[in-house]
Amino acid sequence: MPKILTRERLVPNIHLLEVHAPEVARKCRPGQFVIIMPDERGERIPLSIADWDAERGSVTSAVLVVGTTTRKLAALKAGDEVPVFVGPLGRPSEIGTFGTVVLAAGCFGIGALWPAARALKAAGNRVVALLDAKADYLLYWKDRYRSVCDRVIISSRDHVHASKEFVNRHLEDVLKAEAPVARVIAVGCTYLMYASAQATKPHGIKTIVSLNPIMVDGTGMCGACRCTAAGRTKFACVDGPDFDGHEVDWDELFMRRKSYFEDEIRSLCHWEENELP
Ligand SMILES: Cc1cc2nc3c(=O)[nH]c(=O)nc-3n(C[C@H](O)[C@H](O)[C@H](O)COP(=O)(O)OP(=O)(O)OC[C@H]3O[C@@H](n4cnc5c(N)ncnc54)[C@H](O)[C@@H]3O)c2cc1C
Ligand code: FES
Repeated sequence: MPKILTRERLVPNIHLLEVHAPEVARKCRPGQFVIIMPDERGERIPLSIADWDAERGSVTSAVLVVGTTTRKLAALKAGDEVPVFVGPLGRPSEIGTFGTVVLAAGCFGIGALWPAARALKAAGNRVVALLDAKADYLLYWKDRYRSVCDRVIISSRDHVHASKEFVNRHLEDVLKAEAPVARVIAVGCTYLMYASAQATKPHGIKTIVSLNPIMVDGTGMCGACRCTAAGRTKFACVDGPDFDGHEVDWDELFMRRKSYFEDEIRSLCHWEENELP
């Protein structure tokens, strides 16, 4: 079974998880994800691939703790094994020479966008990263981004970085300062991606988002990740996760993500009361 090589806390609610999975590590491309199950009685969840090392045979993700499964992952230790680790899944992100590309990343998206940042810079783009968090102490990998990006802008709402604006406000400033911007790629919570797509729409700038509907099998069979883009039904696991943010039916996505909200709360309460190690 795949072994945990590293599990460390990056910031209070985000953990880095490095798994030994040589077969997966050999094939990873930016924008792809894995499906992981923390224990035999657990649930399968998708995690974006934040980094990989084909020689070490390892695949790394940034895990934002939100419910039972992510709490279980955050409690793993080096040497623990996970029964399911499948990937790489999903279509890789489009990497080309576009011109100026702005990356808008928040929470686990800061990890998830790192492979694309690196690849876009290597492909000759001017890469501007906009890293967003509620507060500065929740930001990680700033130095990694500074090492490859032409410009890194920090957005937090705690006044540490002069402004307490949300990412879409910063995005509007960046689009003016960096004009012409060829494309924007936004990855993180659904609201960040929605707000980024709304900010770029009046400017007609292509905006790619990495959709995060609930997923189960990750292979297009179960239908859990159904979403609508350009008026057509899509399965985010096989048709995405990248989509044109101006074509996504956001109301449907927000609604479907809440489908199991009450069960998720029950599951978390049960786990905390009965199984928390
Ligand atoms: C392609 C893809 C890539 C992803 N990459 C990452 C990643 O790199 N790191 C990471 O931490 N998370 C990632 N997610 C989200 C992650 O899969 C969910 O946060 C996870 O399934 C939650 O499981 P849980 O049992 O901890 O919480 P649950 O009990 O299932 O949910 C708790 C709360 O989280 C919300 N939630 C549930 N499912 C999702 C979801 N799929 N996306 C966002 N919020 C959700 C619920 O609305 C609820 O409010 C990704 C999702 C997708 C589809
Ligand atoms: S997760 Fe089952 S169809 Fe996409």
